[in-house]
Amino acid sequence: MDEEPRNGDGDQHFHVPKKAKLTRFISEPEIRQEFSHHQSGVARINNGSFGSCPQSVLDAQKKWQLRFLQQPDEFYFNTLRKGIVESRNMIKKFINADDVDHVSLVDNATTAAAIVLQQIGRRFSQGKFQKNDSVIMFHCAFPAVKKSIQAYVTPVGGSVIEVQLPFPVNSNEEIFAKFRKGLERGKSNSGRVRLAILDHITSMPSVVLPVRDLIKICREQGVDQVFVDGAHAIGSLHVDVKEIGADFYVSNLYKWFFSPPTVAFLYCKDSSIVSDVHHPVVSHEYGNGLPVESAWVGARDYSAQLVVRSILDFVNRFEGGIEGIMKRNHDEVVKMGNMLAESWGTILGSPPEMCASMIMVGLPSRLCVTSDDDALRLRSYLRVYHGIEVPIYYQALRNCDSQPRDKDGCITGYVRISHQVYNSAEDYHKLKSTINQLLEDGKICKMLPKE
Ligand SMILES: Cc1ncc(COP(=O)(O)O)c(C=O)c1O
Repeated sequence: MDEEPRNGDGDQHFHVPKKAKLTRFISEPEIRQEFSHHQSGVARINNGSFGSCPQSVLDAQKKWQLRFLQQPDEFYFNTLRKGIVESRNMIKKFINADDVDHVSLVDNATTAAAIVLQQIGRRFSQGKFQKNDSVIMFHCAFPAVKKSIQAYVTPVGGSVIEVQLPFPVNSNEEIFAKFRKGLERGKSNSGRVRLAILDHITSMPSVVLPVRDLIKICREQGVDQVFVDGAHAIGSLHVDVKEIGADFYVSNLYKWFFSPPTVAFLYCKDSSIVSDVHHPVVSHEYGNGLPVESAWVGARDYSAQLVVRSILDFVNRFEGGIEGIMKRNHDEVVKMGNMLAESWGTILGSPPEMCASMIMVGLPSRLCVTSDDDALRLRSYLRVYHGIEVPIYYQALRNCDSQPRDKDGCITGYVRISHQVYNSAEDYHKLKSTINQLLEDGKICKMLPKE
């Protein structure tokens, strides 16, 4: 293997597929066909958690898997490497990166977080960072990412600053004010903020953060590096990594970009960063730069990384391609969110311009969502008894005076609804009437069966 060109080397075989001239756009029955493997009768309004993959992309993936099985040696030496470079090149173009060597493919956002946080941990261990130096993030950073900090950064002396994200939120200014205060905390005790972790779209509660401006604040305030966790971004928001300006930007392709489970890209801003980070699974390519390390982490199924061309073929069947899909998903999720809030007499968790393809909708206070356990109980009840897949968020009462209210009390529960191309208004009406029925029956969360 040593004499072979390394994984990811060169891009001489790469051609961006030209948008095929379509005679017509994909029809509703064809969309249904593409997602006919979805369990029928289930209202899937949680695309955010696990994404979705159309049949044509799954078929393409199967072909790659068969090609490997048909002639593994040939596949390993001549096909896999080129295929991964081709996918990286397509993503590079899509996110407006300067160089394909700044784009690596990894399994998921969790892997990317490990890559970034292990680098931070190493700097503490090597004595380059001091005890009062910190990592800053909003309190609702993804729990798995927080665990990476716990695993790699705090044991070697790093501290953590959690900034409370205002929620419900009305404007970016509220977010900037909180963040600036957090940065001041980081600089007290003569410490330095070494890394800011900013979600492009937070998971729970879900809000689109103004990352470009937050990064500007970070630069003004001397934060060393910024890692944008855009796990939900590609396919639901326009992502231009140069415009955003982060040192690291990760996005899952499997959530909103129709890839099979699972693949994500990790963008690193420049070559010095690329050579200073490592894939957490060490294999033959260790030390050859992140894109090359990541393209071979031992024998495994790489097929999900090879279907980017097929994904583009799929999205280009829709009017406006992926941009058109994003716009329709956004418009529909806002419309459905407003419909639910109106029916339940509640509110949206953020204005429409602060959401992409997911939106938070307040649940009636009479349901008494009073703990994370209640939220999980309601979520399970909706799934098991009504075939509705939707995450529920519990927002603890901080000060009832400033808490949003409906006619009966404070709103402490929210649904996070998603919209993807396979959804129809029926899915959201099913949720609406199921909640309304619970109210009519005088049920509160604690009365629901525990699954
Ligand atoms: C903001 C955010 N970060 C990270 C992740 C983790 O993604 P994965 O499970 O693909 O690693 C998620 C998953 O939903 C997320 O919402």
